Amino acid sequence: MTHREQPSLPTDDTLPHCWRLDTVRQTLVLAAFFNNALPCVVYWGARLDADEDLDALAAALTAPIGNNALDEPIDLSICPEIGRGMYGQPGLVVHDAEQRPVLTQFTLGSVGLHGGALVIEAVDRPTGLGYRAVFQTRAHSDIIESHAELSAGETPVTVAWLSAPVMPVSSTASHMLEFAGRWTREFGLREVAFARGVHLRESRRGRTGHDHFPAILFPEPGCTDNAGEVRALHFGFSGAHRLLVECLADGRRQLQAGVPEPAHLASGDVLTSQTTYLGWADAGLSAIGQRYQQHLRHHVVTHTATGWPRPVHYNCWEAVYFDHDIDTLTDLAGRAAALGAERFVLDDGWFGRRDDDTTSLGDWQVDTRKYPHGLAPLIEHVRGLGMRFGLWVEPEMISPDSDLARAHSEWMIAPNGRHQPTARHQQVLDLTAPGAAEYLFTCLDALLTEHEIDYLKWDMNRDLTLAVDGDGRPLLRRQTLAVYALLDRLRARHPRVEIESCASGGGRIDYAILARTQRVWLSDSNDAHERWRMQHDARLFLPSEIMGSHVGPRLCHTSGRRLSMAFRAGTALTGHMGFEMDVRELTEAEQQTLMRYTAFYKRNRQWLHTALDYRLCPGDEGETRAHMSVAADGQRFLLFSATLETPRSESTTPLCLAGLADHARYRVTLWNREDMTAPPTRFHASPLVTPEGLVLSGRALMHSGLRLPIGFPDSLWVVIGERIDLPPFSATA
Ligand code: GLA
Repeated sequence: MTHREQPSLPTDDTLPHCWRLDTVRQTLVLAAFFNNALPCVVYWGARLDADEDLDALAAALTAPIGNNALDEPIDLSICPEIGRGMYGQPGLVVHDAEQRPVLTQFTLGSVGLHGGALVIEAVDRPTGLGYRAVFQTRAHSDIIESHAELSAGETPVTVAWLSAPVMPVSSTASHMLEFAGRWTREFGLREVAFARGVHLRESRRGRTGHDHFPAILFPEPGCTDNAGEVRALHFGFSGAHRLLVECLADGRRQLQAGVPEPAHLASGDVLTSQTTYLGWADAGLSAIGQRYQQHLRHHVVTHTATGWPRPVHYNCWEAVYFDHDIDTLTDLAGRAAALGAERFVLDDGWFGRRDDDTTSLGDWQVDTRKYPHGLAPLIEHVRGLGMRFGLWVEPEMISPDSDLARAHSEWMIAPNGRHQPTARHQQVLDLTAPGAAEYLFTCLDALLTEHEIDYLKWDMNRDLTLAVDGDGRPLLRRQTLAVYALLDRLRARHPRVEIESCASGGGRIDYAILARTQRVWLSDSNDAHERWRMQHDARLFLPSEIMGSHVGPRLCHTSGRRLSMAFRAGTALTGHMGFEMDVRELTEAEQQTLMRYTAFYKRNRQWLHTALDYRLCPGDEGETRAHMSVAADGQRFLLFSATLETPRSESTTPLCLAGLADHARYRVTLWNREDMTAPPTRFHASPLVTPEGLVLSGRALMHSGLRLPIGFPDSLWVVIGERIDLPPFSATA
C-alpha cells in the first residue's frame, strides 16, 4: 500500500457507541468504535454538560491510520486484545490446556447503568470466554471503583494476566508520581519521566510491600499542590500487584493494574482483576488527596464504637520488646494513662514461649511463665485505669520452633525439595491448607471471647516466597483472599474489635485491607523526622485518622536520632496518635509537653478526623513541609509546618494558606508559642505569636500568607485558625 491509498474500513452506521458515567465533578466516557468490540475510555476528566454530544467527542478522537500500520485502527480498549492486533501490552493473556494462545475477539453483549455502575459485558464466541468490566460510582464521591472479570467457557484455560479495565494516560501529563521506599522509609513520593516502552512496578512479595504502595498519579503540566489537573489510580489488593504504564509507539499511553500470578480457570470459574480506584481532580495534589481520603472515609473503612473518637494508644513494643514482666507492664500502663493514653496495646511476646523472634508464632496461647494467671489481671488493671486493651497477633505466620509446626508441618509454605528461606526466623502458614484457617479462627475467636479485647494489631512480618500450596499450585492470590476470609469471619463474630494492619510497619497498606481494618501502622519508624515526610505524602491516599503515628523514644530506635518531645508529639498528633516508648525515661518537662500535645489532640480530634487536608508550598528548597487541616464546616483549621533541615535562607518566607473562604475572616494564633523560647528565633514581632493572634481574610491568608518563626531542624509550628463571627469582608470593597 502506498501512503496515498485510503484503506477501506468496515462501516457500521451506528458506530461509535458511547456511554457516560458521572460523579459529582467528574465524567468518564467510553466509546466502542469498531465492530462491536470492547469500548475504550475516551474521556476522563471534568464533568461534561448533560447534553454533551458524546458521539462527536468520540468521533473527534478517531485515530488516523499511517503507513506501515494495520488497515484497521487498534483501539486501546478497556482490555486491549492480542486477538485484535494489540502490539503493546495486552490487557488479557490466556492459554488453552495445550498452552496455545487464546486469541480473543470479544464482542459486546450489553452495556448498562445499574445502581451507579456502568457494566460492560462481552463474549468471545468461539471459546465462550466472558469478559465483564464494572465502573462503580459511590454517593458523594469522586472516586470511581473499577474491576474486570473473566469467566471461562466450556473448556478450562490458564489466565496469565488480567488487568483491571485499562485506562488511557493523558498524553499531556508531564510525568508520573509514584511511591518507592523501604522498611522504615515507606511512602517516598518520586517523579518518574515518561519514556517509550513499559514502566513496571510490581510486588511479588505477597503483600503490597514497603517499596511499592500500589498507586500512581499523573499530573498535568503546571499541577502543584493546590492547582492544576491530576489523575490517579490506586490498586486495592493486599498481596502481589503489578502496575504498568506503557508509552506506545503511536503516542498513546496506557495504564494497567492486576495480580501478577497465573490462574487456572475450570469451566464456569470466574477470575476477578481486583479493584482499582480511579481519581481525577483539577485543584492539585491536595484536591486528589481529599477525594481519596473522603472515599476511604465514607466507602471503605468502618469504624467500631470504641474506635471513635480515635483513642490515644500506648503501645509497649519499644519499651519492653519481648521482655514481658507483669509489674513493669502495669507500671507502664499506669504512667501512660496518667499522660493521657486511652488504649493499652500489648505487643509481641505474650504467647507461647516467645522470648525473642525465633519461636512460637502459631502458638496463640498465653505464656503462663510470664502471665501465671493469664492476661486477665493485666487487662483488669488496664481497664481499671480507664483504658481499653489491645493485643498484637501475627496469625499468618508460623515459627519452625513452635508446637504448631511440630503438629502441622504440612501447613508451612515450604515446597518439597526446595529451600525456603526463613525471614525473622519464621515461615508463612498456608491458609488454604485444610484446617489451617479454621485453627487460626478458633484461636483468635477464643482470645477475643475470653478477654475484654477491643483491638488487634494484626502483623505480617515476612514476604511470601516460593508461594505454592502443598500441591505446588500458585498461592499469591489465594493466600491473600484467605486472609480476607479470615478477617471477614472474625469481624462478623467480633464486630466491636478494631483491627490494625501492620506488616513490619507499612508493608501491607491498601484499600482492600482497609475495608477490613481501621488503622495502618504506616512505618516501624517512630522517628518524627522520617515520619513527617512519610505522613505528608501518604495523605494523598490515607486520612489522618487511620494512620497510626506514635510518640517514640527520645533516642529513636530505628535511626539513632534524638528529637525533642514537642516535635515527636506534634508529629504524632497529625495522625492517629499514640505513645510508644518507655514512659519511665520521660523527664518532668517532657511529660508536661506530652500531656499538652495529647490534650490538644483530644480537643481537636473529632473535627480533625473529618477535615480536608491541604498540602502547602513553603517558599524554600524543601527544608520545610507544611499542611493544613480545614474542618468540614470551614469554621476552623490547624496549620502544621515542620522544619526538617537547617533552612538555606536566614529567615522564613511567607507561607500561603489554602482551603479558606476568600471573604471570611479568620483569627490565627501560633498555638505552640512556648516551644519558641529557644533560638533560632530570638525575636518575632508578628502578632501571630501573641495570645490574641491576628485577624485576616481568607484571601489575604491564601495569597499573602504568614511568616512563621524560624525553626531549628526537626521542629514544628502549629497555627490555630478560627473563622470569626464578624461581617465578612465585602467582596467588592
Ligand atoms: C513488627 C511490627 C512492630 C512490632 C514487631 C513485634 O516489626 O511492625 O511494630 O509489633 O513486629 O514483633
